[in-house]
Amino acid sequence: MIPPKAQAQGTQPKATDYVPWRRRCEADLRSFTDADSIRFWGISHQVDGVAKPIFNYRFEHTLAAVKLGHWLCPQVGADLDVVECALWLHDCRKKLKDPMTKDTHAMDASAEVVDILRGTDFPQGKIAAVRHAIEHHVGLRLTKSLSPIETACVWDCDKLSKLGAASLIHFGCISGAFQPITTEDILVRGEAWLELCKGIVASMNTSPGKAEAGRRLAFLRAHYQQLNHEWREPMEASSDYPLKSPVS
Ligand SMILES: [Fe+2]
Ligand SMILES: [Fe+2]
Repeated sequence: MIPPKAQAQGTQPKATDYVPWRRRCEADLRSFTDADSIRFWGISHQVDGVAKPIFNYRFEHTLAAVKLGHWLCPQVGADLDVVECALWLHDCRKKLKDPMTKDTHAMDASAEVVDILRGTDFPQGKIAAVRHAIEHHVGLRLTKSLSPIETACVWDCDKLSKLGAASLIHFGCISGAFQPITTEDILVRGEAWLELCKGIVASMNTSPGKAEAGRRLAFLRAHYQQLNHEWREPMEASSDYPLKSPVS
């Protein structure tokens, strides 16, 4: 892609004319999701004269998925440029809204990729692979494995980010934006989520992803088991939790 400065001057672009693509992706995501978070919550914090969201769920979830991409790609030989770029942008136009509204966020995000990456140093030849991965990242269950490996990795990283310790922080912090919430509500929702997680683990495309999903689900089970003890059976002693036990 020709950067705007070189295009305007009719000169050959220099490396310094290009914006680093990671910086552009992060900035675009931050801008859109901060604004959407403030819209949805209806309140914000003032930090140095700037309105900041109470909690930007979408950005934090995306950051977790990007971290997972760096972990997974080298293990399966996937192109990190494609996977990381797709992860940064996979939910880039997804709004916090009524779940009954028709969900087109994967196609909406894919349609933005070329514009967001314009003038950056992202390899043009990899854009189609980024869009393919974004368009196939939705759903909590798969009936067959995804390909190519980059698309498979994006699905796995997106779903892994919904399992484990960070996911508990993310779900806990956003829950109150949708409805009034109590500890009992969190426990009921968490236990229901554990059932859906079985399908996520079974659907993982990659071997490292499936193994990590199993470990994270074991952790989530232990977490909600402990919460159940503390909240519903306060006279019982806590259990020892063997986090390394196999997960079915
Ligand atoms: Fe998504
Ligand atoms: Fe996502």
